[in-house]
Amino acid sequence: MRVLVTGGAGFIGANFVRLTLATRPDATVTVLDKLTYAGNAASIPDDPRVTLVQGDIADREVVDSLVSETDLVVHFAAESHNDNSLTDPSPFIHTNLVGTFTLLEACRAHATRFHHVSTDEVYGDLALDDPGKFTADTPYNPSSPYSASKAGSDLLVRAWVRSFGLAATMSNCSNNYGPFQHVEKFIPRQITNIIDGVRPKLYGAGANVRDWIHVDDHNTAVWTVIDAGRVGQTYLIGADGELSNKAVVEAVLVAMGQPVDAYDHVPDRPGHDLRYAIDATALREELGWAPRYRDFATGLAATIDWYRDNEAWWRPLKRETELAYERLGR
Ligand code: NAD
Ligand code: DAU
Repeated sequence: MRVLVTGGAGFIGANFVRLTLATRPDATVTVLDKLTYAGNAASIPDDPRVTLVQGDIADREVVDSLVSETDLVVHFAAESHNDNSLTDPSPFIHTNLVGTFTLLEACRAHATRFHHVSTDEVYGDLALDDPGKFTADTPYNPSSPYSASKAGSDLLVRAWVRSFGLAATMSNCSNNYGPFQHVEKFIPRQITNIIDGVRPKLYGAGANVRDWIHVDDHNTAVWTVIDAGRVGQTYLIGADGELSNKAVVEAVLVAMGQPVDAYDHVPDRPGHDLRYAIDATALREELGWAPRYRDFATGLAATIDWYRDNEAWWRPLKRETELAYERLGR
């Protein structure tokens, strides 16, 4: 099977490539990645079954040529950071909307199977005391330019399924953690701050809740949907990992041998979503998927070890990332 992985030099895509090589001996992988600030060729394993093409998913010629030689497209490429979308939304429109459109058109032309990787943020947020969770029937209500652009890309996929009969599946996942995540994101930012002797930074009071899932569990679920999911269907991926940001910072500090309160509160993110929570019943019951990491502390400890052991990977990103946060006062 020839698999085209867009965004395969990013966090989740690179872990997906690694999982695919380890579990699919018949697969060859082409990564199409623009290698933006968030992409890193060093995250892609050196393996004869993998080829990296540096290019833009909005480039019709490149995309059409790669899709014409592919059996399956798994689409991870995106601008993915909410804070950046509040500073400059324009790359989010280009990549998440125009890029997804370009891929859909190529898949339509070549009748290629497509899997679209999306986020729970398209549903907006839940109140902290709401007993409910997001399901595939929850109305779209995105809050940020990032989540609005992802919501738009999901709707494009649905339209291509209905109007053109494209063989596509979709998945919307909650917050991922694990190796190879950019240090701009919450958990790696705090781990690498502590390694550097800097206190973790908590937005606002830290009451906001995220539903954490290990990246490998996200990716086994993506393969489950590709293998067994119904075409045209959206599956929500989550592992019942709800935690407040304050609880996460405290867990990181304790796991790294620091006092539990050794963090600073910083000004909140504008429009900050309160709570995300996924109901993954359909994925579990219809497709028989289950997460492997059931205990956040275990997955977090392995992630901390990875950042301690792989400073050469993240060190070149750290200074610029913290300077950008400093400019935002966060
Ligand atoms: P990331 O920012 O780590 O990686 C994105 C990758 O896409 C990078 O390698 C970047 O170079 C590449 N890219 C960006 N623009 C491109 C373009 N125009 N053409 C080609 N490549 C381009 O993101 P991530 O956290 O790995 O997220 C991957 C996908 O999963 C995204 O679609 C995101 O919306 C979705 N998602 C992420 C999470 C999460 O917690 N990180 C949760 C649910 C869904
Ligand atoms: O829910 C899925 C989404 O999860 C994905 O679609 C996004 O691509 C991914 O970036 C993530 O979005 P969040 O905005 O939830 O992730 P982030 O890591 O930026 O922040 C997680 C929470 O931590 C959020 O409530 C903001 C807070 N935060 C973040 C940073 C960087 C802090 O308190 N301090 C920080 O320094």
